[in-house]
Amino acid sequence: MEQGSLCKIEGVSKEYFVKKGFFTGKVSKIRALNKVFLDIKQDEILGIVGESGCGKSTLAKVILGLERPSEGTVTFRGKSVFDLEGGDIRDFRKRAEMVFQDPYSSLNPKKTIFQIISKPLKIHGLCAKKELRQEVKRLLSICGLDMPDVLDRFPHEFSGGQRQRIGIARALATRPELVVLDEPTSALDVSIQAQIINLILELQEREKLSCLFISHDLQIVAFVSKRIGVMYKGNLVELMPSSIFDLSKRRKDSLHHPYTEYLLDAVPLPDPETSKKKGKKTINLKPSPSIHKDVQEKENYCPFVKKCPRVQEICFKKVPKLKEVGEGHFISCHML
Ligand SMILES: Nc1ncnc2c1ncn2[C@@H]1O[C@H](COP(=O)(O)OP(=O)(O)O)[C@@H](O)[C@H]1O
Ligand SMILES: [Mg+2]
Repeated sequence: MEQGSLCKIEGVSKEYFVKKGFFTGKVSKIRALNKVFLDIKQDEILGIVGESGCGKSTLAKVILGLERPSEGTVTFRGKSVFDLEGGDIRDFRKRAEMVFQDPYSSLNPKKTIFQIISKPLKIHGLCAKKELRQEVKRLLSICGLDMPDVLDRFPHEFSGGQRQRIGIARALATRPELVVLDEPTSALDVSIQAQIINLILELQEREKLSCLFISHDLQIVAFVSKRIGVMYKGNLVELMPSSIFDLSKRRKDSLHHPYTEYLLDAVPLPDPETSKKKGKKTINLKPSPSIHKDVQEKENYCPFVKKCPRVQEICFKKVPKLKEVGEGHFISCHML
């Protein structure tokens, strides 16, 4: 059965203008998102992967209505997020929540855990005053924090993993439909990362949440998500079901964008012998100098033109569009 779409991102671009120097009045333009089309379905985890600076956090902010796009629209349950008024804005804030990367700076150090988690409950009038402590306890408990005195303690008394559990409990307080998780495990130790990822998977299934899971780590995104979007310099270059994305077989079985192949090559195989047998070789990101000579990236070029080993003349003429190459699998590359 085709799942319904909860949130639709259509042709979204976001430009930032930054001053070039302190004394010069010159301003340079950064295109953090470039005509992104994406939909987040009900009850799915959609993963977004891409290197630092490719626009992942900007996408998260635009989806949550925290940054207005320069062009394009974001709709949540059919309503434009940027045209909401009054009660509809409050309702949207309740239904769409965020979990931040840094559990150290995202919790107010001066507030107790009870104050932090009960705040959204109070703002949205979701719980009677005398039941607040019980509800906060319940939220912490489903996030794996059951200690008896947890409510009156302060964030600094907890470890990074525990703080991220508190951040997740806070995000769940309003019983949201959509949770955007922006690099939720990047600041944590590897062993703790696995626990938090398992918690996210368990909560998503139990609460039937739609999640946008953002990470620069392809292995984590592939493990967590049902569908994966790959971003490069503000562009969505590939969108695929994670079922085609078997990290051990990968390149033999499926077609990918050259940038995705580059990401795949960067994933270490567990056994060096297997890696030799599979003939794993590193993709060449410094292709023939003749065609790349004096390449200046322009808005009408393919965004990957400077590094692509498959580059041809056409790549300098227009930006490739996403093409369907398999069921639910889209790639933007002129060479496919
Ligand atoms: N408020 C801002 N002002 C100016 N430039 C910004 C701002 N936010 C993000 N950018 C720029 O937009 C690009 C994408 O940033 P971001 O979305 O944070 O990437 P990611 O989360 O993938 O690391 C970067 O080049 C970044 O420097
Ligand atoms: Mg980011």
